[in-house]
Amino acid sequence: MPSIAILGSGNGSNAQAIINAIENGMVDAQIVCIISDVKDAPILKRAHKHNIPSHYIDCSPSPHALRDEAEQSVLALLDSYKAEYIILAGFLRILKESLLERFPRRIINIHPSLLPSFPGLSAGEQAFKAGVKETGCTVHYVDSGIDTGDIILQKRVEIHPTDTLDTLMNKIHEVEHIAYPEALTIVFNS
Ligand code: GRF
Repeated sequence: MPSIAILGSGNGSNAQAIINAIENGMVDAQIVCIISDVKDAPILKRAHKHNIPSHYIDCSPSPHALRDEAEQSVLALLDSYKAEYIILAGFLRILKESLLERFPRRIINIHPSLLPSFPGLSAGEQAFKAGVKETGCTVHYVDSGIDTGDIILQKRVEIHPTDTLDTLMNKIHEVEHIAYPEALTIVFNS
């Protein structure tokens, strides 16, 4: 059974969907730890609630990168837990080449758009403002680009004229929570 570490910065609803899918037997994996760069992030509380080891990594002062010492701390944790896969679930920092090289095709991310459309930050808002008729989510391998890695799975949502950004984001989250466990099943069974 693969050992996975989840990295996230925020609410952790995708981490929760993965926890649930493991607990109900849909995904055959073990979450060995959950790591966050935000001290009081709800994702860490979710870990605690499910008795999953959780760790805060101080990444300051860098606003976006996983600076060297922080990366070393993450790598040390991943080694100590013998993590085989890194699952990014709303982790807002860019991973450096050294980490990518240590986990070739073993780092997976979820992005709230139908890539290659709307990569980068605020993808839901980008789609909403662009006036497109559909968007969705993409689960993909992480490579050295921004949201450019090979796609594992996508799920679509329609954007209706009555949608607000809030209703759209809710719809995207709903399909994300289905997509991430499904994608992990594909990866772990292949
Ligand atoms: C999701 O929309 C995901 O696509 C993006 O960040 C958000 C994380 O949400 N990468 P949550 O923390 O899983 O609730």
